[in-house]
Amino acid sequence: MGRKTFDGFPRALPGRHNIVISRTPDRQFDGATAANSLDDALEIARKWGAENGSREVFILGGGEIYRQSISIADRLYVTEVMASPHGDTRFPAIDLDLWAIIHEIQIPAGPKDSFITLYKIYHRR
Ligand SMILES: NC(=O)c1ccc[n+]([C@@H]2O[C@H](COP(=O)([O-])OP(=O)(O)OC[C@H]3O[C@@H](n4cnc5c(N)ncnc54)[C@H](OP(=O)(O)O)[C@@H]3O)[C@@H](O)[C@H]2O)c1
Repeated sequence: MGRKTFDGFPRALPGRHNIVISRTPDRQFDGATAANSLDDALEIARKWGAENGSREVFILGGGEIYRQSISIADRLYVTEVMASPHGDTRFPAIDLDLWAIIHEIQIPAGPKDSFITLYKIYHRR
């Protein structure tokens, strides 16, 4: 994840190896490994995965990191919230010539969710 995304969390995400990308040399992150580039982060993640029996690397944003990595992703796990909030950070456009939806489920609004959400998995064509 990008440094700004990590800064938005109260703590490192539990149950997984957190890797934070920052251009600032020697930055340290509580509960997470620092990487100085996307390539470094991927190398650290793949090595950790090989040692721990995990084959999938998840890139979890934010916008800057998604923009740099969508071209190398094999799958996109996307939750669309049926709302129009204001914001300054966006996921890159998903080109349906390149991506096919292989799973889609609609989750209704309810006591825990104010809005309908669509959960979609895209696979690179
Ligand atoms: N809805 C979602 O699924 C979702 C997911 C994640 C995040 N978010 C939101 O997205 C926002 C943050 O996104 P963002 O685009 O502003 O920032 P970001 O992508 O989280 O982080 C940007 C930072 O990452 C580092 N960075 C980026 N590219 C790099 C590279 N190639 N090499 C080394 N370091 C690099 C830089 O850190 P330094 O400045 O330290 O060098 C840069 O300032 C937050 O509001 C967060 O809540 C939403």
